[in-house]
Amino acid sequence: MSTERDRLWVDDMPAAYAEGLETAVFAPFATLVAERAAALAPRRVLEVAAGTGVVTRALADALPGVDLLATDLNAAMVAHGAERESRARWEQADVMALPVDDDAVDLVVCGFGVMFFPDKPAAAAEIRRVLAPGGRFLATIWDTVETHAFGAALTRAVEKTFPDDPPTFIRAVPHGYADPDRIRADLSGFAEVSVERVVRVGTAPSAADVARGFCLGSPLRAQLAERGEPQAAVDPVAAAMTTMLGDGPVSGEMAAFLVEART
Ligand SMILES: C[S@@+](CC[C@H](N)C(=O)[O-])C[C@H]1O[C@@H](n2cnc3c(N)ncnc32)[C@H](O)[C@@H]1O
Repeated sequence: MSTERDRLWVDDMPAAYAEGLETAVFAPFATLVAERAAALAPRRVLEVAAGTGVVTRALADALPGVDLLATDLNAAMVAHGAERESRARWEQADVMALPVDDDAVDLVVCGFGVMFFPDKPAAAAEIRRVLAPGGRFLATIWDTVETHAFGAALTRAVEKTFPDDPPTFIRAVPHGYADPDRIRADLSGFAEVSVERVVRVGTAPSAADVARGFCLGSPLRAQLAERGEPQAAVDPVAAAMTTMLGDGPVSGEMAAFLVEART
């Protein structure tokens, strides 16, 4: 289960996320979501859990001129995203209480945010509230950590670095909702729900870049901080990941569920 701490991206975490994780881990799925969004030809789009805006940029490219409101729980993420993508309006918002009228949008998009929502059926109801009749919800959700080349290596590297008390965030939260039946059940208020397993390949300049992104740019950082200075964990985790994935550029498969729901 995700805790309040697991939902916090503060201070310089958005920059570390953008540098280490955006291109390698999130961009391949952002492209996929934007392609699906474009096929729906919406006029008004709301993005929730937009983070640093990797999906926002893909949506703005795929849907030129669309009315796009990008939102996120964390003000630091919104500030970072707004700085880099001006084709969207940006607003700080919790998905549990969206600052949007009933029936106001044609499409709600969420890239890898649902796993953090504290009450998933309630979040789904709030998303349905803002969707016009016939409107769609498009979301990506990670499969298990074992199906993610970088997440799996990171998890093993963290376990090697902290053998007595390894942080569990990556396995338990972003990869802890990998259950299509549960996803469908939580979205049962929608008229139609499809859950499709998709695999994409991510590429990063080095394993150390990915290690730094996870350790300093995700809520894993808070669990590392309970064990010492998070920066001090980066080198041993990066070294262990490099041993597993090799020196130089690294690439690997990542599996996720692409969810499409219609009101
Ligand atoms: C893994 S990031 C994904 C960001 C972006 N969509 C992407 O694909 O890179 C998860 C995001 O969910 C946001 N988040 C977590 N809980 C949220 C909530 N209750 N409402 C809105 N956003 C939330 C976090 O602030 C974070 O930016």
